[in-house]
Amino acid sequence: MQQSGQKLSHIKATNNAADNNGIVIAITSGKGGVGKSTATANLGIGLSQQNKKVIAVDFDIGLRNLDMILGLERRIVYDVVDVMEHKCNLSQAIVNHKKAKNLYFLPASQSKDKTVLDKDKVQHLLEKLKLDFDYILLDSPAGIESGFEHTIFWADRALIVVTPEISSVRDSDRVIGILDSKSDKAKQGKEVEKHIIINRLRPDLVTKHEMMSCDDVQDILALPIIGVVPEDEKVVGATNNGEPTIFTKTISGLAYQRIAMRILGEDIPIETFEANLSFMETLKKIFTIKKG
Ligand SMILES: Nc1ncnc2c1ncn2[C@@H]1O[C@H](COP(=O)(O)OP(=O)(O)OP(=O)(O)O)[C@@H](O)[C@H]1O
Ligand SMILES: [Mg+2]
Repeated sequence: MQQSGQKLSHIKATNNAADNNGIVIAITSGKGGVGKSTATANLGIGLSQQNKKVIAVDFDIGLRNLDMILGLERRIVYDVVDVMEHKCNLSQAIVNHKKAKNLYFLPASQSKDKTVLDKDKVQHLLEKLKLDFDYILLDSPAGIESGFEHTIFWADRALIVVTPEISSVRDSDRVIGILDSKSDKAKQGKEVEKHIIINRLRPDLVTKHEMMSCDDVQDILALPIIGVVPEDEKVVGATNNGEPTIFTKTISGLAYQRIAMRILGEDIPIETFEANLSFMETLKKIFTIKKG
């Protein structure tokens, strides 16, 4: 795979909380269906396993599927819109994860339309969550529409999920432009800290020049990569079972674990997935890097 280790390695993520307030991270993308909700679920668990108190908020009003990915769909009674419409208290709508005890979840509503979210109400909600949680992960809806703007407007940091295809990369470039111009931080002359997650990479196709390499993606987006998640057939089953792959030693699960550590500021080199390495060899290599 063509990847210059130098460019991609040693991305040191910094925490930008000036006080004890939680950090709002928007998990977003240009194109839909690239793995935002999967990333939110896995990283929420990953951060909570590092003793951080985390809440994942589903902003995909009308569609919601983060609850299924987290295996919490049957526990939902109230949702984020009920909270904003004062039909319940915040604490009544928040669901604790069954296995990851430091992880909490605030569901999207399934039926109401997206326009119910209002900027000030979202700000009020996030300010409240910041007092209680170390990390607030906002799962963006697909596409650049009203729900999307709510997730990026108050973000301190953004993780932009891209798949190595030109359409996904090009649409992400638009999202980066919006983050740099419309976010609250941009309005204050500050910058939202941005990192890229490359998802569903297939090293065999990169070698055959049938898929963009990580370098290609980075050259276009000109942002640091915080992790590369390979295509992993285990993700589909994990989604259906409500057990994200980070709970197991799968290739995607390990990649998400490492991204969680980088979010916390750990200086872990970005992995390179080579086409000629088998699954076990890749795992071995990842563990060796981790120990070294
Ligand atoms: N690394 C991966 N390997 C294989 N399949 C994956 C991977 N990541 C995500 N997927 C699959 O891709 C599909 C889309 O994932 P997901 O729902 O997380 O995307 P999304 O960006 O949240 O979509 P939307 O924009 O509709 O909200 C799902 O079927 C998921 O199982
Ligand atoms: Mg989603």
